[in-house]
Amino acid sequence: MTTASLQTLRLAMFSAQPYDRRFFEEARAARRSPVAIDYHDTALDIGTAVLAQGCDAVCVFVNDVLDAAVLERLHGQGVRAVLLRCAGFNNVDLVALARLGMFAARVPAYSPEAVAEHAVAMILTLNRHTHRAFNRVREGNFALDGLLGFTLHGKTAGIVGTGKIGLATARILAGFGCRVLGHDPYPSPAFAALGTMVPLDDLLAQSDIVSLHCPLVDATRHLIGHATLGRMKEGAMLVNTSRGALVDTAAVIEALKSRRLGALAIDVYEQESALFFRDHSSDIIADDVFGRLTTFPNVLVTGHQGFFTIEALREIAAITFDNLDCWRSGGACANVLPAA
Ligand SMILES: NC(=O)c1ccc[n+]([C@@H]2O[C@H](COP(=O)([O-])OP(=O)(O)OC[C@H]3O[C@@H](n4cnc5c(N)ncnc54)[C@H](O)[C@@H]3O)[C@@H](O)[C@H]2O)c1
Repeated sequence: MTTASLQTLRLAMFSAQPYDRRFFEEARAARRSPVAIDYHDTALDIGTAVLAQGCDAVCVFVNDVLDAAVLERLHGQGVRAVLLRCAGFNNVDLVALARLGMFAARVPAYSPEAVAEHAVAMILTLNRHTHRAFNRVREGNFALDGLLGFTLHGKTAGIVGTGKIGLATARILAGFGCRVLGHDPYPSPAFAALGTMVPLDDLLAQSDIVSLHCPLVDATRHLIGHATLGRMKEGAMLVNTSRGALVDTAAVIEALKSRRLGALAIDVYEQESALFFRDHSSDIIADDVFGRLTTFPNVLVTGHQGFFTIEALREIAAITFDNLDCWRSGGACANVLPAA
């Protein structure tokens, strides 16, 4: 790439929210980067790919679609690089990417603690009902019925996926005095200081809280479904801050109705792309499964905000610019997506 083309490098950012613009513009100014960024609040799919016409690269988030058709459309328009503002890349067709010879890099770790802290915030909220207490007290209702929780100290927490976020979650829960169990086909040595690695079935059978921190791949799709829910301790809490499709939502609803599952905290939802990151408060929500979930008093849903801290957004912008610089310079990039 020539110096002239470096000066005119153009990036189309999809699913761009005001906070993306704020942190990317801050990073751009700090680096005096000549890159031009077109911010589009719409998600990337086959219908919106045309917005990247004339751009060298696209910058995408968790619910943007990067299947073969979209990648081919982008490539045909001259786009040669995909920059993910996230760690997970289950929305990218790696085979098509390689076939087209496109560069793609992600932000593998921006603040594992941010997501871990959110997972624990959800556990504490759901257990001690602080979200319900907040509303009650504002209405002058100081009754405690319905707010009964359990003491976290001494309980068993099962961490499925002991990578960066799982490890950070285990560290916090160990600090609360929980006994921590982990399951991971590639166990991290650092976990040994916090807890015990066990087979998944043992983790499910023994844990009062099961928290999911593994990636979404074919082997983990609906990891929590009818069979695995049946192996969980009766009345346990399930927490998912990883990817929605790790959980079979219909099976979870059945388990909540039968009271086999005691509580559910989710920051991610299988069909979230139609809902999350947008204000739908004046819309009729057509997703009846989601609607059913929100009727349970023992279900807490947040809209994929685990990553949403100042530190994490700053890091996402900085690493995305590093990835872009790597691509421009043709240097080795540690954050390139793995081969299919
Ligand atoms: N809610 C959010 O805002 C948010 C933000 C960032 C990441 N995430 C999600 O969190 C996930 C974990 O992120 P991370 O940074 O800890 O990733 P990581 O790669 O550091 O850790 C993932 C771990 O899962 C393990 N794993 C793979 N298959 C497994 C299986 N079948 N069973 C159990 N473990 C398995 C891996 O060996 C690895 O140790 C990401 O994949 C992403 O989907 C969510």
